Amino acid sequence: MLDIAFAKAALPESGALVLPLAEEDLGGALMGEWDRLLGGSLSRGVAAAEFKGRKGQSTTLYAPGGGLSRLVLVGLGKREALDAAGAEAAGGNAAAALGKETVASVDARAIGGWAGAAADLALGATLRAWRFDRYRTTEKPEDKPRLTGIKVLCEDPQAAKAEWASRRAVAEGVFLARELVSEPANILNPPEFADRLRKLEKLGVEVEVFGQKDLEKLGFGSMLCVSQGSAQPPRMVVMRWNGTDSKKKDSKPVAFVGKGVTFDTGGISIKPAGGMEDMKWDMAGAGTVAGLMMALAGRKAKVDVVGLVGLVENMPSSTAVRPGDVVTSYSGQTIEVINTDAEGRLVLADVLSYCKKRFDPAFMVNLATLTGAIIVALGNEHAGLFSNDDGLAQRIQEAGKAVGELAWRMPLGEAYDRAIKSDIADMKNVGGGRAGGSITAAQFIQRFVDGCPWAHLDIAGVAWGSKDQPTVPKGATAWGVRLLDRLVAEHHEGRTPAPAEVPAAEPPAAVSGAGSESPAVLAEGGGASADASIAAPVAPAPAPAARPATRRPRR
Ligand code: BES
Ligand code: MN
Ligand code: ZN
Repeated sequence: MLDIAFAKAALPESGALVLPLAEEDLGGALMGEWDRLLGGSLSRGVAAAEFKGRKGQSTTLYAPGGGLSRLVLVGLGKREALDAAGAEAAGGNAAAALGKETVASVDARAIGGWAGAAADLALGATLRAWRFDRYRTTEKPEDKPRLTGIKVLCEDPQAAKAEWASRRAVAEGVFLARELVSEPANILNPPEFADRLRKLEKLGVEVEVFGQKDLEKLGFGSMLCVSQGSAQPPRMVVMRWNGTDSKKKDSKPVAFVGKGVTFDTGGISIKPAGGMEDMKWDMAGAGTVAGLMMALAGRKAKVDVVGLVGLVENMPSSTAVRPGDVVTSYSGQTIEVINTDAEGRLVLADVLSYCKKRFDPAFMVNLATLTGAIIVALGNEHAGLFSNDDGLAQRIQEAGKAVGELAWRMPLGEAYDRAIKSDIADMKNVGGGRAGGSITAAQFIQRFVDGCPWAHLDIAGVAWGSKDQPTVPKGATAWGVRLLDRLVAEHHEGRTPAPAEVPAAEPPAAVSGAGSESPAVLAEGGGASADASIAAPVAPAPAPAARPATRRPRR
């Protein structure tokens, strides 16, 4: 993770400087300060590069003076439309432009109007700078990204540092999820996955691991039929974070459940060879639940939460489940397995019924790379959202909009449910044909929630990205960690009084040393609080819920 420090504005003596600017800032006071310090090279460079401050625009000026190696201009777009997502994107775009630098200062003073603006920028940079390079051994050092830290220049470094603590914890959770999803299936099998979740114990998460025997004893016939063809034994992991005063017995936990198929060959109903390697990330639902637990525990969220993951490998072999086999689930309902490639729902069935029976949660949200059909329907822009509870569905959609993880509500209904009737058992694991494939999958899962308020997120289209986005490098996205952290923060933690409207950004204070003729005399200004403050250990920090509202709606 990048080292993040916050400091008062001062011209760095060397290295890189990033200057995010809104369209209205061009030719304004802030730009004027830097232009004077840099002897006019900023305004000349802006003109030569035709930098207009447009959203997503970024321009690099090399050796702009004052000892700087480079000056990166990052466009914020229209000031009126600038929000937390825009600040994150600016941080992300800055990190992407800084690949060859080791450290950089970023002047966040053009970004403001809400508490945490500087920390939002830091979060964006941190999320973008992540990279999975465990298995690259021959990459030349000059080709590797070198950025190790950024110093965010802002008006109130102490306040920014306090805002950063909870965001840092969320970034840690995102990174755990991305790492688990990136690992190949020969390394990350169900036992290894479970072992890695044990490290959450250090954060105060209770971790319980169930093995083959335990699951047999419980009667997990649905989940176990998926793993029976694999040499890898199955695991179920139950994670618990108790963040409230546990004496209050009446409060129910909230629950998150993840599909963790560490590799999905399809089993006997085997998949075609092309693209099958993608099925290493068929455990992204479980990875997201793990990352969420890490985020919540890391920021000491005031909530009782349980996270359950069902971990199996789906392989064809002489011990594999066959099409036509009938299995008995933990709930007692019987299932005719028509297609062994519809295995995710078989895993979720048992884990969801177990979760409901044992914890009686306030709600259950499950995440699963469940169907190719959801990609046909929604592409890679939205996850599919299915729910038996309108309020819960709406809260999920809103939390998703706030953090840039979008979910689109899909229908459920009796007519779809009829498609999974079986002639021999209580249900079959696929609907008639390909029609409504994501919906019939959701109907199947719904049969195992026993009336609990529930939402199912089909993340097959969003768990993995084929191109870089401002705060999400291509590859594992950890889609859902931030959304669900937000959901919990906004609706399930100790509510704070509604914050007052935050006034519009004040005109930025002068760069220290401004007016001086010579950049050489500029030292770091601002007194004691200007010191680089490397990310603090997470205090009982203000959860995102306690953040003052943004002036404008987020993305
Ligand atoms: N893991 C797949 C779904 C998937 C497909 C995720 C592509 C990501 C990208 C799931 O287990 C599966 O195989 N679903 C089948 C269901 C079908 C057999 C009814 C599918 O979508 O083809
Ligand atoms: Mn499958
Ligand atoms: Zn699958």
